Amino acid sequence: MNCIGVIGYGHMGSMLVNGFLSSGVLGVDEVVVTSRSQESRDACAAAWPGIGIARANREIARRCRTVILAVRPQETIEVLREIVPGMDGDEHVVSLAAGVGLTELEGLFSGSVTRAIPTITSTIGQGTTLVCHGRQVGMHDASGLRGSFRPSGT
Ligand SMILES: NC(=O)c1ccc[n+]([C@@H]2O[C@H](COP(=O)([O-])OP(=O)(O)OC[C@H]3O[C@@H](n4cnc5c(N)ncnc54)[C@H](OP(=O)(O)O)[C@@H]3O)[C@@H](O)[C@H]2O)c1
Repeated sequence: MNCIGVIGYGHMGSMLVNGFLSSGVLGVDEVVVTSRSQESRDACAAAWPGIGIARANREIARRCRTVILAVRPQETIEVLREIVPGMDGDEHVVSLAAGVGLTELEGLFSGSVTRAIPTITSTIGQGTTLVCHGRQVGMHDASGLRGSFRPSGT
């Protein structure tokens, strides 16, 4: 339950997973990934043997306390609407989506919500991630997220 779940294994999702695991900040048993296509899920499983792969977005919400939405902005609201009914409210949702505001996210999920916007140079560990926490995010979640994103840069 203390694992980090990543929904969407595209450019940003794979970059984050790579950062978490190649840096050793997290182990494969602490990360669960899902993506819309079987092809992306297979690519993740092949790149990181032993990593958790979920077949559905709702499964991530059940298995992980921190849930990173690494889907396109237009898919972010749709995915959040899909997973919220299976959540107990104690989770920390982190959205990478440009253009989807905290108010909109907090309107759908009343627990902890953070926006985190990495840059493309995060891929080589030299990016800057802009982070904006919602009203419910406590010190513990904020520092946990900071630690997890450290491999991407500052
Ligand atoms: N790219 C950047 O430089 C950058 C920088 C800062 C922030 N962002 C933000 O990061 C987010 C992701 O961007 P990206 O560049 O990584 O996009 P991307 O490469 O298109 O990846 C998005 C992934 O989301 C998956 N997906 C789509 N709908 C889904 C659903 N309903 N359930 C589960 N997975 C789904 C797709 O899966 P399949 O491949 O399996 O179909 C795809 O791999 C965006 O919101 C963007 O605004 C991007």
